[in-house]
Amino acid sequence: MEAMTKNLFSYLAKSNVLNQAAKKWGLQFGANKVVGGETFAKAVPLIRQLNKQGLSVTVDHLGEFVSSAEISKERTQECVQTIKRINHEGLDSQISLKLTSLGLDIDHDLITDNLTQIMEAARHYDIFITIDMEDTSRCQATLDIFEELRANFDNLGTVIQSYLYRSEDDVRDLNKHHPNLRLVKGAYKESSKVAYKEKDDVDENLKRLIKTHLLNGNYTAVASHDDVMINYTKQIVKEYKIPSNQFEFQMLYGMRTQTQLELAKEGYKMRVYVPYGDDWYGYFMRRLAERPENISFVLKGMFKH
Ligand code: FDA
Repeated sequence: MEAMTKNLFSYLAKSNVLNQAAKKWGLQFGANKVVGGETFAKAVPLIRQLNKQGLSVTVDHLGEFVSSAEISKERTQECVQTIKRINHEGLDSQISLKLTSLGLDIDHDLITDNLTQIMEAARHYDIFITIDMEDTSRCQATLDIFEELRANFDNLGTVIQSYLYRSEDDVRDLNKHHPNLRLVKGAYKESSKVAYKEKDDVDENLKRLIKTHLLNGNYTAVASHDDVMINYTKQIVKEYKIPSNQFEFQMLYGMRTQTQLELAKEGYKMRVYVPYGDDWYGYFMRRLAERPENISFVLKGMFKH
């Protein structure tokens, strides 16, 4: 039953018709429980509220797989405006972005020009940028762009997924930059040629990556809702006396809210990933596919009016 529900939401996530229609509907079906707003301006009160509760934020303008140079430039300008707005509003927020929204699939010069513009604005306003990791066919290209830009910008980090066999090598290779990395399990459907299929293997690899990156002395963002990973991190930082300014926890907005607040109260740095934008439909469906229990959002959202 759970597999059927997951498949249904994964299928619905890919519907172009529903995705286009959703842009006109506004946030529906309880999507506002996991998406910050249809525009950055609408997400500002939420970010302020989270900050007041002791939670840091990273915002992500929803929308990926841009195939037109013009749209990638619009996305770039939107990101630059968001950086200025974060500064103007005095928010405790970073930015997460997907390279396919900035032209990764179009042209190398286009993506590096776009990202450079964003990085210059981010450096000017002292805002950290994380490049999200997409599916494995884009992993090497993403890491190449990261390394190219990281040479000039310290305020740039990226993501490593523990389900990929290559990730241990990647963490080792990237160590030369002493990068700030977000470590996650991985969210895309990948083949057994490139990725661990068993949850235990993915979990064990995430633990290895967390330990290696922390003991290499690098800033580590542990992005997981899993108590096992959170407790493991707490144990490692205690055992090896890792300073509190060398790591943080990250979770998605709307997921394990109580745990987020508890971690912040315990004195840990806790960052909430807040997506926003009118392209909310696919993200929302993927969250439902990942955890069908979240379907209660939908039901409550439907019967609210
Ligand atoms: P997992 O799904 O393995 O669940 C393990 C256990 O945790 C569950 O059995 C349950 O006990 C508990 N749990 C999980 N979710 C819960 C919930 N909502 N409520 C209560 N308990 C829950 N992926 C990617 O490929 N590229 C990326 O760039 C990113 N970026 C990113 C940023 C941030 C801030 C986060 C939190 C995640 C990502 N991800 C990602 C997604 C990531 O790869 C992964 O798919 C999800 O976080 C799910 O894996 P978890 O480790 O959270 O737990």
